[in-house]
Amino acid sequence: MTATTRHDAWQSGDSYDAYMGRWSRQVAPRFLDWLGMAEGLDWFEVGCGTGALSAAILAQGKPRSLVSIDPSEAFIAKARASVADPRVSFQVGDALALTASASAASRDVIVAGLVLNFIPDRAEALAEMQRIARPGATIGFYVWDYPGGGVEFMRAFWQAAAALDAGARDLTEDRRFPFCTRDGMADLACGAGLASVATVPIEIPTLFRDFDDYWLPFTLGAGPAPGYCASLDPDARQRLKEALRASLPTRADGAIPLQARAWAVRGRVATR
Ligand SMILES: C[S@@+](CC[C@H](N)C(=O)[O-])C[C@H]1O[C@@H](n2cnc3c(N)ncnc32)[C@H](O)[C@@H]1O
Repeated sequence: MTATTRHDAWQSGDSYDAYMGRWSRQVAPRFLDWLGMAEGLDWFEVGCGTGALSAAILAQGKPRSLVSIDPSEAFIAKARASVADPRVSFQVGDALALTASASAASRDVIVAGLVLNFIPDRAEALAEMQRIARPGATIGFYVWDYPGGGVEFMRAFWQAAAALDAGARDLTEDRRFPFCTRDGMADLACGAGLASVATVPIEIPTLFRDFDDYWLPFTLGAGPAPGYCASLDPDARQRLKEALRASLPTRADGAIPLQARAWAVRGRVATR
């Protein structure tokens, strides 16, 4: 674990859902609409977390089968408990060892939602995806637009944190993941040898009911920003809370209307 990854905590499914799952659930169907796959295919999902994209694949993609892997045993347990469907198999696994979970050349569609930036060797992850892909298969993924300030609720958090704590400046996702741009993601797919590479922005509203609805998920410790927040002593956490309360755009009814943008990419595996 490096200094900047030390808060990447993926231990509690409920905490993850409160912080991020509720938003990834909104991105997933939009991504699948754009991917436009036929029914009855064999899918594979890398980094399924608590199953936001898995549930959408089963409902919308109408697959013949779906294998969804994640290294977090807690997330896999949560996904199994909340997505009960005979077509899906949730397994503990790693993006850099996909052939442990699927045979070579066995899947028609391989997807990853909000995952690739957390994998240090992204080129190798895409090579692994291609190993389990049938010729002509589709590979699709999406990441938040961190460098473009596209995830407003995170950007507000890190701006406030960095103003109070110089040590937070290197932890912000825009600095850690500068490649999460439209061009950066397209270059990754083209560099991996995918054909017909296409990209699209997916934008969703992230409306927080009130300040507590915004703040509480950061205190639960799941994900980089909540992991950092949970590491602060009570006084420092209170200072951050008050700085955020003062800086967020708040409507008269107390709601905090923000936006989030992801970049989605798809490409075709070359026929051998
Ligand atoms: C932001 S979450 C996204 C989860 C889910 N796909 C979603 O959309 O809600 C990032 C996920 O990447 C997973 N992850 C981190 N490193 C991984 C790796 N080497 N291989 C596969 N998944 C990984 C984490 O366990 C976590 O579930």
